Amino acid sequence: MTYKVVLLPGDGIGVEVTNAAVRVIKTVAESFNVSMEFNEQLIGGSSYEKYKNPLTDETLQACYDSDVVFLGAVGGPKWETLPHNLKPEAALLKLRKALGLYTNIRPAKIYNALIDASTLKKEVLEGTDFIVLRELTGGIYFGNPRGFDKDRGWNTMEYTREEVVRIAQMAFKLARMRRKKVTSVDKANVLDVSQFWRNIVHEVHKDFQDVELNDMYVDNCAMQIVRNPKQFDVLLTSNLFGDILSDIAGMITGSLGMLPSASIGNKYALYEPVHGSAPDIAGQGKANPIAAISSVAMMFNYSFQMQKAAEMIETAIEKVLVQGYRTADIISDGCKLVSTEQMAECVIENYHEIFNQQAIGVFTL
Ligand code: IPM
Ligand code: MG
Repeated sequence: MTYKVVLLPGDGIGVEVTNAAVRVIKTVAESFNVSMEFNEQLIGGSSYEKYKNPLTDETLQACYDSDVVFLGAVGGPKWETLPHNLKPEAALLKLRKALGLYTNIRPAKIYNALIDASTLKKEVLEGTDFIVLRELTGGIYFGNPRGFDKDRGWNTMEYTREEVVRIAQMAFKLARMRRKKVTSVDKANVLDVSQFWRNIVHEVHKDFQDVELNDMYVDNCAMQIVRNPKQFDVLLTSNLFGDILSDIAGMITGSLGMLPSASIGNKYALYEPVHGSAPDIAGQGKANPIAAISSVAMMFNYSFQMQKAAEMIETAIEKVLVQGYRTADIISDGCKLVSTEQMAECVIENYHEIFNQQAIGVFTL
């Protein structure tokens, strides 16, 4: 069995964290005797520089031919003034749409060793473990009409029944594997599209009566994530609300540099760290590769059905943090500052150790 992995490092620190991710993919694949074929392509600003196009047909075709896609990050100040359709971000949106990646899974889990890196109090955070399940190919990101002229700017927030049904089903299925609680986020007190979203989610819920469902307005939800994050299990959101709430969720865990994501459709899957391209620290070896490596764990879990491998990667990350290794974004007193590459190396060393222990039967999760 050979898996075809398309690598899209993109811009800024995307390149460094993708290198770290690839090293981990190779290590894990080798240990399980799975073969991986890598195909690296340009996307975003780096693609624009070469082809005046942030997403070429070649890159898109490579993704269509892939089993999985790994993306670093796109964007940067250099391309901010380009017209909308040439911006690096447009490439990512086009790719999500083209591959039909309507389910976006963003876990917000607290690593105990990092509890002090958060701006929130330890008591508030302890035991936090929820998922932002974000609809990724609809809503205001893609609605028409859109545009602006000299005097007016406009976008359209629209959802079809089918779009809400499929993401709501995902949320309930995911909740069934967890603590069986879905919080559906909307702004139904103001927006018609949100009232529609709420109605459909409740219709779908009829088939999942064993899962608890509650609705929450998005403004209240933003507040509740900071006030009492433990209350959440699966947060079901539209595209825009999920974008905002997942950044808040990421920050309570200490750093956006820790937050992985999986974007999944009926045929394709793309894994990417939630953080952006961080041009200010690009190329300096300062980026935290843990979000990228944790996205690799999600890849093994969801795309390759190798749950054991995924757990071992996650355990390796936890161990590295317990050992006190930190990149600059999560550094605190008494810890050891490491570069992006060194952090990847630490995870790999721990992975090997866990794998070997498991092979001789002493590994327990
Ligand atoms: C994210 C990012 C993207 C989004 C940008 C880069 C288009 O913020 O994945 O959260 O808004 O979806
Ligand atoms: Mg975002």
